[in-house]
Amino acid sequence: MRFQAHGAPGVAHSTDAFVLFRGKAAKDRARLPVPDAALRAAAAAARKEFGGERGETLLLHGGAKGRRLLLVGLGEEAKPDLELFRSAAAAAARALDARGLARATFLVPAGEEEPARATALAEGIALALYRFDRLQKKKKPQKLLSVRIAPEAGRGEGFGSAVALAQATVEAVAFTRDLGNLPPNVATPSYLAARARELAGARLRVRVHNRAALRRLRMGAFAAVAQGSATEPRLVEMHYRGAGPRVPAVALVGKGVTFDTGGISIKPSQSMEEMKFDMCGAAAVLGAMHALVALRPKINVSAYVPAADNMPSGNAYRPSDIVRARDGTTIEIISTDAEGRMLLCDTIVYAAEKKPACIVDLATLTGACVVALGDAAAGLFGNDGKLSDELEEAGKRSGEILWPMPILPPHEKAVQSPYADLKNSGGRNAGACTAAAFLKHFAGKTPWAHLDIAGTAWGDRDEGYRRKGATGFGVRLLLAFLLRRAGAR
Ligand code: BES
Ligand code: MN
Ligand code: ZN
Repeated sequence: MRFQAHGAPGVAHSTDAFVLFRGKAAKDRARLPVPDAALRAAAAAARKEFGGERGETLLLHGGAKGRRLLLVGLGEEAKPDLELFRSAAAAAARALDARGLARATFLVPAGEEEPARATALAEGIALALYRFDRLQKKKKPQKLLSVRIAPEAGRGEGFGSAVALAQATVEAVAFTRDLGNLPPNVATPSYLAARARELAGARLRVRVHNRAALRRLRMGAFAAVAQGSATEPRLVEMHYRGAGPRVPAVALVGKGVTFDTGGISIKPSQSMEEMKFDMCGAAAVLGAMHALVALRPKINVSAYVPAADNMPSGNAYRPSDIVRARDGTTIEIISTDAEGRMLLCDTIVYAAEKKPACIVDLATLTGACVVALGDAAAGLFGNDGKLSDELEEAGKRSGEILWPMPILPPHEKAVQSPYADLKNSGGRNAGACTAAAFLKHFAGKTPWAHLDIAGTAWGDRDEGYRRKGATGFGVRLLLAFLLRRAGAR
């Protein structure tokens, strides 16, 4: 999809359709400033047929050179938020694409934060048309290929960079969705490392550690998970430098379990195929780095992706094993299915040693978080109120919602072990909180936040701008967070 920002809605350029967004309020629908007299008349005539309901679309014909007008409803809201624009744009994009229209001009309603609305529209369009069909013979080619974003009124100030931001964002989200959707026999740890290496360049340094290096790095917890699989694990490090060498980096950590069978504590076969998505935290972190390379903001960001698959075998780690993490903490294994925290704890220790400004980890960590929040929000845990507030705020702006969850003393107590320093499972109750309590131990004094994205990383149906499969959750959120830190937004 190619996006172009326009300073004026004018008819001068060639397009197949104009797209206009309107709410339910009658006065909102009275003014339809289409830059085509015939379409204006058609819209006036069809006024009664369009109610402005959320998700409603009405396509009108009769413009010059066969141009059409697509009316898209925004619903009741007096002040539609950016998320509403994303989903309305998704409905519009699907309607245009289904009718085989190749070029469209989306008109941004006048009002608050128009550049942000332009970004939201472009995001909604591209994300709704995303397809994962690279492994299928029969492909349904995308029809809508070129979109102009123009103001309804005014000169579209700031639209150029708003649309460039959207372009970089949606390409990163598609990259992340692809990584999530690819099957585990393709998206292996070394595949993730290879994709990371392709991002390397002047501002991005990439380093990859193999199985032997994990042992050398004394990452006994990470190595324990990896030992059960013939598939080689990888620890991928990426260092983006957009600010001065003395500026502390933001550290990102993404859980990269390329397939989670549960190991010896094996999962039921029902829905086990969904565990290919257990590397969506890693994919989100890689996607964020993808966008940074394109946008070049003035910030330093280091990303760490521990990647392995969790398999049962004669070499697999077992319940009651005790292993030693990089910081010396001993961990008693209760469940080999609590593998995510094993990879993450060593990686968090490693990231903290480099004295980052903060650490943010993303992980499809617990089924308990899905039970608690469903797909409405990711769980937000941490040890630093300011960092959590910043992330929550970025969540609201990006439409990727985070919900604050606690780590209470009983949660920390639940992961104490009678035989070792910690145990890797605190049992069924408060599973998302005890998993976070386990990780907190390893963050030490470094400001740290943990996002449990188990409920938001993939979905089972098309909905709004989300498609069945990996959602790319976290990329837009991380960008909103990082770009604000860089002072860019
Ligand atoms: N990857 C899973 C968590 C998960 C399950 C995410 C279902 C999304 C959907 C994780 O590795 C896991 O198995 N967690 C266990 C932890 C338990 C053994 C303490 C869980 O949630 O049951
Ligand atoms: Mn597991
Ligand atoms: Zn897992």
